[in-house]
Amino acid sequence: MKTALEQIKKQATERLERAEGPSVLEELRVRYLGKKGELTAILKQMGGLSTEERPIIGQLANQIREELESLIARKSKELEGAAQELRLHAEKLDVTMPGRSRSIGARHPMNIVLEEAKEIFLGMGFTAVEGPEVEYDYYCFEALNMPKTHPARDTQDTFYITDDIILRTHTSSVQVRTMEKWQPPLRIISPGRVYRVDEVDATHSPLFHQIEGLVVDKGITMGDLKGVLETFAKRLFGEDAKVRFRPHHFPYTEPSAEMDTLCYVCHGEGCRLCKFEGYIELLGCGMVHPKVLAGVGIDPEIYSGFAFGMGYDRMAMRRFGINDIRLFFENDLRFLQQFR
Ligand code: DAH
Repeated sequence: MKTALEQIKKQATERLERAEGPSVLEELRVRYLGKKGELTAILKQMGGLSTEERPIIGQLANQIREELESLIARKSKELEGAAQELRLHAEKLDVTMPGRSRSIGARHPMNIVLEEAKEIFLGMGFTAVEGPEVEYDYYCFEALNMPKTHPARDTQDTFYITDDIILRTHTSSVQVRTMEKWQPPLRIISPGRVYRVDEVDATHSPLFHQIEGLVVDKGITMGDLKGVLETFAKRLFGEDAKVRFRPHHFPYTEPSAEMDTLCYVCHGEGCRLCKFEGYIELLGCGMVHPKVLAGVGIDPEIYSGFAFGMGYDRMAMRRFGINDIRLFFENDLRFLQQFR
């Protein structure tokens, strides 16, 4: 019996020492020390021993049990420590590593200019509204006093989708939509994309951008038009900005004008930027034609208004010294990231 015990001890110790995980350890514990374990089985046979032998074997068995128990305890701690070690190693954080820098986006130069312009008009009490880019002929031409035979409707300029549906050629279409929807007093601007059939080159694109403006109320005069647009130019270019109005023609305004600003490069002397004019054309404007007002059900005997429209692609090009309009649409990060 003693030999059997010694053998159990030897075998159990060896196996326990080699155990590689907590589950193996538990298995071995049950196998040797459990209620139906090998050591227990031997102790159950002690009844057949002599009175002298019994305490000796009992003591030995208890000793072996204690030894195995403490071995299991030690081993279990060891395995736990190793697991912890492994975890710590996997989660290791090197605080001396340099951080990852995140790249910050930049605003598109067109948006920078648009937001500046918007800010100025909103400051003067205008509301920004939007209209569709795919538009009815009616809103783009017909309602703006451009009947079917008008040269501005020439298919050379307009992208037609159907006979009645086009890509809007200017944001003036939003004037009509606004007056249809709301009663005067009205004070709106409407920025957005417009389209015209055009060859792409450094200064032309079939897609470009305009801001439309419209004011309708009782007693609006050309003086209001000049005041608002001059103020806009001064806020945009600085208090010393000079503007001039030239008579022009638009079918939807009467009288009509174009507003120029003094060339900021040569200050009127004449240079390449202003094509030796001394002035740079900024926008078209005029007093809303009575026919246009009447067409949307606003009585031109009671109300009057002014309107204006400007392209801001050129404005952004001049502002940032960009010499090719295509750069706006190519989304080359090397270009865009310069406008942080
Ligand atoms: N629609 C004109 C253009 O595309 C700009 C314009 C001129 C708008 C006069 C207006 C206006 O509202 O009154 O060039």
